[in-house]
Amino acid sequence: MPINVHREVPVDAIEEQNRIAEFLRPRLRERFHTPNPLAMVHTFGCQQNVADGEKLKGILAQMGFSFTGFPEQADLILFNTCAIRENAETKVFGNIGNLKQLKAAKPSMLIGICGCMTEQSHVVEKLKKSYPYVSFVFGSHSAYLLPSLVQCCLDEGKRIFRVAPDDGCVAEGIPAVREEGVKAWLPIMYGCDNFCSYCVVPYVRGRERSRRPERILAEFRELVETGYKDITLLGQNVNSYGKGLEEPVDFSSLLEQLNAVPGDFRIRFMTSHPKDCTHRLIDTIARCEKVCSHIHLPVQCGSSRILKEMNRHYDREGYLELVRYAREKIPGITFTSDIIVGFPGETYEEFQETLSLLREVKYVSLYTFIFSPRPGTKAAKLPDPVRGEEKGRWFRELLALQDEIGLEQMQPYIGQTVQVLAEDWGKVGDGLLQGRTESNLIVEFPGEPSLVGQFVQVKVRSVKKWALLGQLD
Ligand code: SAH
Ligand code: SF4
Ligand code: F3S
Repeated sequence: MPINVHREVPVDAIEEQNRIAEFLRPRLRERFHTPNPLAMVHTFGCQQNVADGEKLKGILAQMGFSFTGFPEQADLILFNTCAIRENAETKVFGNIGNLKQLKAAKPSMLIGICGCMTEQSHVVEKLKKSYPYVSFVFGSHSAYLLPSLVQCCLDEGKRIFRVAPDDGCVAEGIPAVREEGVKAWLPIMYGCDNFCSYCVVPYVRGRERSRRPERILAEFRELVETGYKDITLLGQNVNSYGKGLEEPVDFSSLLEQLNAVPGDFRIRFMTSHPKDCTHRLIDTIARCEKVCSHIHLPVQCGSSRILKEMNRHYDREGYLELVRYAREKIPGITFTSDIIVGFPGETYEEFQETLSLLREVKYVSLYTFIFSPRPGTKAAKLPDPVRGEEKGRWFRELLALQDEIGLEQMQPYIGQTVQVLAEDWGKVGDGLLQGRTESNLIVEFPGEPSLVGQFVQVKVRSVKKWALLGQLD
């Protein structure tokens, strides 16, 4: 039986939240003694969380809030948290700690904590006990209920904890307040069923569930009409998109449908799990001219034994075969990856296999992490004999090698002309624009601010770490 469609939040439940949001407007103005209450939403973690943060802002806008980036100006502060590694959680607790004095100086302020961390009971307990000035806490599954949570907070005058025990659902029809610019995030699915042995995501985000293709298509068209030119489809494993839906659709057919939307734009996607990355998908990417020739294909490590321990369901050879096939079918394709150093029991020789895999694949860039034990995951219980300093040395060895490989990958572009989507990354004042090529390489070049949002041709003159430097052609 298809499970997914039954998990969509009923339309009347969303409408009820919209009504509560409207109803709260005058109450919030009164509480904060201002005709224009301000909210600050601070998102930690991955792009999925960023996309959630945009929806949370959409709901807050319905409640009458405008937005600020300064906590001291805010009447409501919402931290949208990440639990992926211990240091991510430590950072969030540090930030919450910093709010104590602000709240003391402005008692009407509301402080909310949501996102992945709050789906863990030990975090909720800590928030209850050690952070009494936090007004409300809710998990990602309850995000669409934000208006009623705030209402409860105001009505009852006490702290509200709403951490749903269910596996989550798909809430459609919530407006997003997106960053202005040319890039947009578009979630196509939520949750994860893969249970990689080190990872907390399946525990905090619930079971994998896909959005219906017609919902994605409608939002995608809207983004294109609004002028977004670089749209990234999001999911923890986009390659398994469509499972459990009534419609017979998979990720390849979704890409085909989006590629057929008229307009001048690029389609990106993340993340692709290698175990579900098929030749059919690679053939589709090769055929669809708007789908970028770049795959973020996290390998995690180069040793087949460790990959098995990680529960990744592919081995070194299978991964390398995929990369070879994609290189053959998609000329100029680039790869990026995530790497974990120091998984429990990994030996230095096994770590060397990761380095040799890097030399073979030649990624243009990497996201690199030292293993962090997450409570409740299988890997957290494994013996982990290698000391932190040793893992630190391996980590630096990895970074040094990638620096070399990255630079080497960029050299051949010198003298070539590449197409770049011009963006403002904060240096327009100095007459500098940045952007990415279709294959996701960063390019920096002098140009007028009026070019932002346009596809331009740039002749590459030189390279520096992370970027190609050039001039408009
Ligand atoms: N769904 C994506 C990744 C999501 S998390 C995928 O499967 O590729 C992003 C990255 O964080 C992971 O790819 C992994 O490299 C890293 N990560 C996850 N859990 C970790 C942990 N416990 N310690 C260190 N790195 C971790
Ligand atoms: Fe975590 Fe693995 Fe799921 Fe990625 S695929 S979110 S690494 S469990
Ligand atoms: Fe972090 Fe949650 Fe993303 S744990 S990496 S914000 S899915």
